[in-house]
Amino acid sequence: MIYIKDISIVDGVSEIPYKGDIVIDMGKIVKIGKGLDVDFKNAITINGKGLHILPGLVDMHCHLREPGYEYKEDIESGTKSAAAGGFTSISAMANTNPPIDNGGMVNFIKSRAKEVGIVKVYPIATITKGLQGKEITEIGELYEAGAVALSDDGMPVKDSNVMKLALQYSRMFNMLIISHCEDLDLAADGVMNEGYMSTILGLKGINRAAEEIGIARDIILAKHYKTHIHIAHVSTSGSVELIRQAKHEGIPITCETAPHYFSATDEWVDGYDTNTKVNPPLRTVDDVEAIKKGLMDGTIDVIATDHAPHHMDEKNIEYNLAAFGISGFETAFSLAYTNLVEQGIFNLSTLVEKMSSKPANILGIDGGKIKEGCIADMTIVDLNREYIVDVDNFYSKGKNNPFNGKKLKGQVLYTIVDGKIVYEKGKIV
Ligand code: DOR
Ligand code: ZN
Repeated sequence: MIYIKDISIVDGVSEIPYKGDIVIDMGKIVKIGKGLDVDFKNAITINGKGLHILPGLVDMHCHLREPGYEYKEDIESGTKSAAAGGFTSISAMANTNPPIDNGGMVNFIKSRAKEVGIVKVYPIATITKGLQGKEITEIGELYEAGAVALSDDGMPVKDSNVMKLALQYSRMFNMLIISHCEDLDLAADGVMNEGYMSTILGLKGINRAAEEIGIARDIILAKHYKTHIHIAHVSTSGSVELIRQAKHEGIPITCETAPHYFSATDEWVDGYDTNTKVNPPLRTVDDVEAIKKGLMDGTIDVIATDHAPHHMDEKNIEYNLAAFGISGFETAFSLAYTNLVEQGIFNLSTLVEKMSSKPANILGIDGGKIKEGCIADMTIVDLNREYIVDVDNFYSKGKNNPFNGKKLKGQVLYTIVDGKIVYEKGKIV
């Protein structure tokens, strides 16, 4: 039994946090109230004074790298990293080696996660066999095995007819399609945002059009085939505008951005820190403003980490050759709190919506609420605590994070999964 005393509760429904006590037993929230009568001898007590409790964070886009790239991350290290970031449920992308493109592979992820995972892992399977973009996977089989969504993330589905077929089949099973939007011919071998900074730095640019063309195509497909598409990692002002317009017209589109797209710009590439190399690339100040506005007005539904850990050897090389990706679990909450809530973009309950309720809802999984009778997946944070990011303290094998050394506000103190404390003040329990 866990007794959490005198804490501010952000329950995923109410607009304003309220104070109370919470009792957790047998994996569930059994009581929420004030001055509860508890058998203290048998309870772990957490003094919640000055702290906030949120529904466990849900990340609908991350890369755990197992199988095939365990030198970058594996399910054990990745779920520890997620727990340290306050996440209780995560959905893992399918661009592993081999990719998650059949029922057996989905079952492998589920059973490995049961064995070594400390948070809940929901597998995403590929849209196309072998991530080749040619032939759609056996969607019924993937559904039966327990995949929560389909995505070729890391690669776009270039062939519109293949995407159309994926939409038509996925609809039969109510399976979500998550689309990585990128015109590969246009992006070519670019390594950062195309613009003033790429010219100054002498690096090949990726024009924003590469992302926006992909999004425009998917909006048109979603419209004509009346099927929901979720757009991954939105990074440009033009993308936000396309999605805003599509939603206005009632087209079934949702989307996510990642913390680095509202916390950093292409100016950070100055100095050639390869930890700033990510796909889509960091954009400009105007884009950051547009992303914030999109989050504020509801155009952007979700904040996902796109946690993309890489090995040192893939980052400690010249910018042109380095791998794309940011190891993001362990800075996501603090970046969102520091750069959105503290900046007055929105309040804590909207942060919980974007990082817990909405992603759970879009994936159709449990989560996003603190309510009597609910599964006890929760995150306790100290919003007043400032700290300096130190990648050496990451549980992730991937130390590739451009916010290393930066001061952030709002720190995750406890992560509770199924009523069990899995992370407590810097330590995996
Ligand atoms: O930066 C990225 N890294 N973007 C992607 O789309 C894929 C990801 C990865 O798998 O490393
Ligand atoms: Zn990704």
